[in-house]
Formats: sequence, structure tokens, C-alpha cells
Amino acid sequence: MSDRRQFITGAGLAAFTGLGALGVLYGAKRSWDPLPSVAAAGFTTIDVSAAEENIPYTEMWRGKPIFVLKRPKQDKPNDRDIVINGARFMITVGLCTHLGCIPAYDGAQRKFLCACHGGEFDSAGEVVKAPPPRGLDIPPFKMDGSKLVLGEEGPEYKKLLAAGLTNKV
Ligand code: FES
Repeated sequence: MSDRRQFITGAGLAAFTGLGALGVLYGAKRSWDPLPSVAAAGFTTIDVSAAEENIPYTEMWRGKPIFVLKRPKQDKPNDRDIVINGARFMITVGLCTHLGCIPAYDGAQRKFLCACHGGEFDSAGEVVKAPPPRGLDIPPFKMDGSKLVLGEEGPEYKKLLAAGLTNKV
């Protein structure tokens, strides 16, 4: 009898753990699924019209991960926001400005957490916990409707650069 109970408890735990793992995988898959993008001649075009709020997407551009995040509505607007069709986006290079690790987004905290030395960035890419010396860098981009062309320096990017809101990548 006790063996049977143990078996049932074990089976229940396995099912519960399996469901948890599926949930994690589903969440991870959503964040891995890229937005539609096209790469050509050093430029990468990303269509952000299908982006979901608080779900980060990662795109590769010139060998670097680029984070695209439709910022959560409850987070304050930031001067670094890139406004596309009325929605606020964070577009940054996905490398920690401390020593270059790739931070991971925690949707519940709405922060990018760097596992290497505990640095944290908010959903605008600003540092909220040292040691990173500055916010996540913004790659050169040009806006084209609901599309972003990475690698081209459009007027919006030049403005951010001139205002000292990002380093040149
Ligand atoms: Fe990110 Fe050090 S590399 S905190």
C-alpha cells in the first residue's frame, strides 16, 4: 500500500514537473521565435508589427544579439524609447555593458538580469543595478513604417546619439 502511494506521489510529481518544464519551454520558445526579418548586405530589417508587449525577441545583427522589446505599458516612458505606431520599443545590443555577457529578460520583474556579476537593466535598457557602467547600447537603425532597418543611421538614431543616450556601436 505504501509502495502504491509512493508510486502515485512519484507519478504526480513527475506529471507536475513535466508540466512546469513545458511551461518554461513554451515561454522560452515564444521569446526565441524571431520577428519576421530580412538580412541583406549588412542590414537587417525587422518587422515589429507582430511584437507582443513584454515579450523580448532576439535578432542577430553583425554577429551581435539585438534585443527588441515592446515595453510594458506600466513602465514609464524613457528618452531612449523608439516609438513605432504609438507603441514604445526598446531596441538594444543584447550585451551587458560591463563585460559583455548576454542578459536574460525576466518578464515578471520587467528587467534584464545579467548572471555574470548581477547587473540589472530595466525595460528601457537603463542600468538599475551596478556594475554595468551604462545602459544597453542602441544599434544604428532607421525606421521604415513598422519596420526597423538595423545598420542604417536614421534621424531618430542620430538624435539619440547626439543626446548622449547611447554609445556608438
Ligand atoms: Fe554583466 Fe558583469 S558582465 S554584470
